Amino acid sequence: MRRGVVQARLWASGLWLLALAPALVLLARALGNRLGANPVEELTLELGQWALRFLLLTLAATPVRRLTGWTVLLRHRRLLGLTAASYALIHLLVYAVLDQGLAWSLILGDIIKRPFITAGMAAFALLLPLAATSFDAAIRRLGARRWQALHRLVYVATGVALLHFWWKVKADTAEPAMYLTVFALLLAARFVAPRHRSPRRPTAGRQPA
Ligand code: HEM
Repeated sequence: MRRGVVQARLWASGLWLLALAPALVLLARALGNRLGANPVEELTLELGQWALRFLLLTLAATPVRRLTGWTVLLRHRRLLGLTAASYALIHLLVYAVLDQGLAWSLILGDIIKRPFITAGMAAFALLLPLAATSFDAAIRRLGARRWQALHRLVYVATGVALLHFWWKVKADTAEPAMYLTVFALLLAARFVAPRHRSPRRPTAGRQPA
């Protein structure tokens, strides 16, 4: 097999491992009763953090390619984006099922009365059309331009998710501030930094950059 093919497969396997590892570690901690005094809270917090990390990693794909010419993240952006959406979904499910016991009136009350939950729900709702249109058939049906315009929503979703985090922590904003800084840098790199000039077409994946 050609060296390039082996390398591409290794990268793909590595990123799949990266996507699954946090869930497997959390599962192992849950099964081993190692989630601390408040396991549901710990699970919610960890899943929320991982959703945000994978969102930022997804947003890093284009700036990394533009600044360095490195295309691995861009070629696997769909995996990274769907991983972020999956962690967000499990985060929501843990909250709705384990924390609220699927009491819809309580959940609805939270969404209406607690701004940080409203923001979390809005961020999740913004991710849904992106996850639903992340397949080749949807890209073909929408056309590259409209697909790209729709997928710019990921910046709004990440901004709203950061607001959700900020409002949740209230006074101790050091951690969300760190994520916000990374987000601001990624935005600057995406929309302000000059393009890296590559002799070949840089994207091997089919999604528009
Ligand atoms: C894109 C979607 C979302 C992302 C990226 C996200 C991310 C986060 C983050 C980073 C935290 C704080 C973690 C920490 O303090 O260490 C958090 C907390 C929380 N999120 Fe989300 N979230 C999302 C959607 C939602 C939704 C839809 C709900 C429920 C309707 C929700 C409910 C909560 C709750 C209840 C907490 C606090 C948990 C606790 O203190 O026990 N989140 N989320």
